[in-house]
Amino acid sequence: MAKPLLRVLGGETLPVPPVWMMRQAGRYLPEYRALRAKAEGFLDLCYTPTLAAEVTLQPIRRFGFDAAILFSDILVVPDALGQQVRFVEGEGPRLDPIADVGALSRLRPAIDLDRLGPVFETIERVKAALPAEVALLGFCGATWTVATYMVAGQGTSDQAPARLFAYRDPVGFGALIDRLVDASSAYLCRQIEAGVDAVQIFDSWAGILAPEEFRRWAVEPVARIVSTVRRRHPQARIIGFPKGAGALYELYTRTVEVDAVGLDWTIDPSWARTALQTLKPVQGNLDPVALVAGGEALDHGVDKVMEGLRNGPLIFNLGHGITPDTPIAHVEQMLRRVREVER
Ligand code: CP3
Repeated sequence: MAKPLLRVLGGETLPVPPVWMMRQAGRYLPEYRALRAKAEGFLDLCYTPTLAAEVTLQPIRRFGFDAAILFSDILVVPDALGQQVRFVEGEGPRLDPIADVGALSRLRPAIDLDRLGPVFETIERVKAALPAEVALLGFCGATWTVATYMVAGQGTSDQAPARLFAYRDPVGFGALIDRLVDASSAYLCRQIEAGVDAVQIFDSWAGILAPEEFRRWAVEPVARIVSTVRRRHPQARIIGFPKGAGALYELYTRTVEVDAVGLDWTIDPSWARTALQTLKPVQGNLDPVALVAGGEALDHGVDKVMEGLRNGPLIFNLGHGITPDTPIAHVEQMLRRVREVER
């Protein structure tokens, strides 16, 4: 019998939806913090296959999720394109900003997949250790989201530097996007060849684009990644997560040929039921802050997702990543609530 997560990606509705959480390997876990302290920097952890594989498996052992997600980061792609990437403790990523088209010449013309060899080795290690029914997910950032970090050199509240670059010089910005489409497609293909069961494309900053720009920079390039990957791997299973897309979720779901769409927590499950889940399986969308709150707010949040979406193909998840301040007992409470069959 196929893994539950893959059955849902194939369009089946299961009585109990498969569950995993974005950022499920991370700082809310004491075993992650202990292992993180042993690695030099965050990227060293990503590039050390024994440690990265161990971190990937930690939440599976503790909670029995239906999917493991490769422990890595979306910013390994700029790293493998030759842009300096560092993670500053307590602050986040720092890159040498690419402010205009001239700075593109500092990048490699194509991604150096050899540099990402440790990532593919991590996939092989996790694959060998994972229970048969648990799916392994690979991922990359969507071109737009990765470009926002490459241009600003860091996360900002509104990623205005990339928006400015794109308005001032759409052709030059398009050249950066094209480079990322090629890099991301090649990277996802190699992850699939190393053994992941499905991949997710994280567009964490999709929600800050005006509608026309959303089409141009969020929909069109991701559609190209999906078709490029499928040319080499027709059976590839792909989840798209255009966080914050609001009313544009419908356009994304109709236009991008992903197998499932990840919903953020602002999307009303009962709206998604008719507008989106009739088109494709969906994934989501509990507010990560309700998970921090626990208690009745958490039960209510889980129930809303289940009532709205359990009668169609659903992968239960959060509407964005779990935050470091989340109590472990609340994750257990969430899982009990999702998995209790008689409700
Ligand atoms: O989901 C998982 O458990 C798999 C691993 C994973 C990480 N990052 C580990 C990580 C995944 C899938 C990501 C994706 C990612 N990385 C995204 C898209 C999803 C999202 O959260 O919006 C983005 C935008 C990034 C870029 C990034 N990485 C930022 C902005 C930061 C700093 C903020 C923070 O939370 O610290 C990171 C660091 C990062 N990536 C950490 C982890 C566990 C924390 C660093 C640490 O442990 O020292």
